Amino acid sequence: MTRAAALADAAAAFLDLRTLPFTLPGSRLLVRETDGGLSVSRAEYEVDADDALAVRRLRLYGADGEALAVSRVRVDRIEFGDGSASLTFGAPDELSIGGAARCTFELPDGSTIGDSGPGVAPDAGAPEVGVLVSVDADRRVRVRRDAGHAARLARTEQVWLDWFARCPVVSADLEATAAHCWWVLGANQVELDLAPGTRAVVPSKLGYVALWQWDAYFIAIGLRHGDLDLAMQQLDLALTHQRPDGQLPDVVHDTGVLAGSDDLPPVDQARLRELGSPAADPGVPVPLTKPPLTALAVTRLIDAGAPAEWVHRVLPALRASQQWWFDHALAPDGLPEYAHPYSSGLDDSPVFDADLPVATPDLAAYLVLQDVLLADLSDPEQAARHRGRAADTRELLHRLWQPSAHRFAPRGRRGPVAAHTVVDLLPLLTGTLPRDVAASLADDLADPATFAAAFPVPTVALDDPAFDAGRMWRGPVWVNTNWLLIEGLERSGFGAAAAALAARTLALVGAGACEYYNPLTGAPPPRSAPMFSWTAALFIDLAVRYARP
Ligand code: GLC
Repeated sequence: MTRAAALADAAAAFLDLRTLPFTLPGSRLLVRETDGGLSVSRAEYEVDADDALAVRRLRLYGADGEALAVSRVRVDRIEFGDGSASLTFGAPDELSIGGAARCTFELPDGSTIGDSGPGVAPDAGAPEVGVLVSVDADRRVRVRRDAGHAARLARTEQVWLDWFARCPVVSADLEATAAHCWWVLGANQVELDLAPGTRAVVPSKLGYVALWQWDAYFIAIGLRHGDLDLAMQQLDLALTHQRPDGQLPDVVHDTGVLAGSDDLPPVDQARLRELGSPAADPGVPVPLTKPPLTALAVTRLIDAGAPAEWVHRVLPALRASQQWWFDHALAPDGLPEYAHPYSSGLDDSPVFDADLPVATPDLAAYLVLQDVLLADLSDPEQAARHRGRAADTRELLHRLWQPSAHRFAPRGRRGPVAAHTVVDLLPLLTGTLPRDVAASLADDLADPATFAAAFPVPTVALDDPAFDAGRMWRGPVWVNTNWLLIEGLERSGFGAAAAALAARTLALVGAGACEYYNPLTGAPPPRSAPMFSWTAALFIDLAVRYARP
């Protein structure tokens, strides 16, 4: 068996069809086991998979008329009965069923295809003759019979084998999880309607079907180890939709971008209102973006061999996006602020419960880091400007230090924010904090009362009144904030602590790449999205860097 085939098998062991679907890179279709049989839904922006059903109760029957149960799920096919009947992909939005005598299914309106209802009767007949079920963008289903099922099985198998051949090599104990994570990054590929011919790796086909700005950075950082071109494509897609004033949109979706609070989907507005968030109904529309970590991703792609022409092409967009924070988002003392929780990426964080805009230690640290990284990519004159601004921002960041509390604290317009959260630790990323300040942050990370949870690192300190182990950004562990802390510990000279946190983070992902995890139990809370791309990508990155064979 080839290495790619072994990895495909290891990845398939995670596919239970309940939490993880059967799908294909580039396809919108998700096949899952729901009550009453298999269902097919379309992955769409801001639509729950259960509300995007195209086909329900899909059943295959043998020659004796008996329904065939699913007997095995592989990455490239679902097998039924003794294995001679199977379901695979034809075209990206077309399923091919072969080897069964007959199949039946229901449409969402309740009508049945294949029994006595409308539509063609999908008799598969000979093993070579398949039933092709295609689902268009309006979820309209078409059925036809066609020979060539075996060729479609072979083609789908090859798509996955080619993908797994790119899976980076990691230590043997992490190989099964790496295979699962590489599957996640393959499975989450879609073509956005506004960018045909390119592949966006979306955060999760089950929950987030679009390109989110900072997700794209983390995803690219992992992808670069096996598919540098695809990694660069993520940044291209993210940067192409920059606004004329330099702002990067929060989300690039099928038909446009999410770049301001007035573009927010109604469900998001309703949730913010329900939380009593000051972001719910701003007097004037507020821009929505994501943290300035683009240059960090670009430098990682340069390390992986991204060509100089590409770097030169993206640099102006990076510079303009960095400048945007200093042109449009300033507190009276000149420190950039988040005007909306979504722009921080930590949507539900208690940091934003009471006051907005807020100047936060993470944002200041990201801006310092980005200016330093941009300086390294610039001509001497531009470099001096970036370094000068980094020094000024560093100075303003230090004003957020609370000596008596030994912590950085975000600052709203009404004063320091009490909530003690992971953002307070992120100034480690600058790598230039005074020794005693950096040591206080490392101590906080090691303190069982605050951040040294059983499964570190909680996004809110364990002893903070707002801590909630199950609600997103109000306690659960996220792999991207862990990754940023590991990066910060390295940059601040705490290499051993960085390696220890990397090992804990790798172990956490073992049961599956989810959106976030309970810091007390290590399990994903019920609302944590499965097959989450940045978790998968950063697992790969940490495994390659900290757990080489
Ligand atoms: C959630 C997260 C945000 C992320 C998005 C897509 O909204 O809070 O940080 O970018 O999901 O994964």
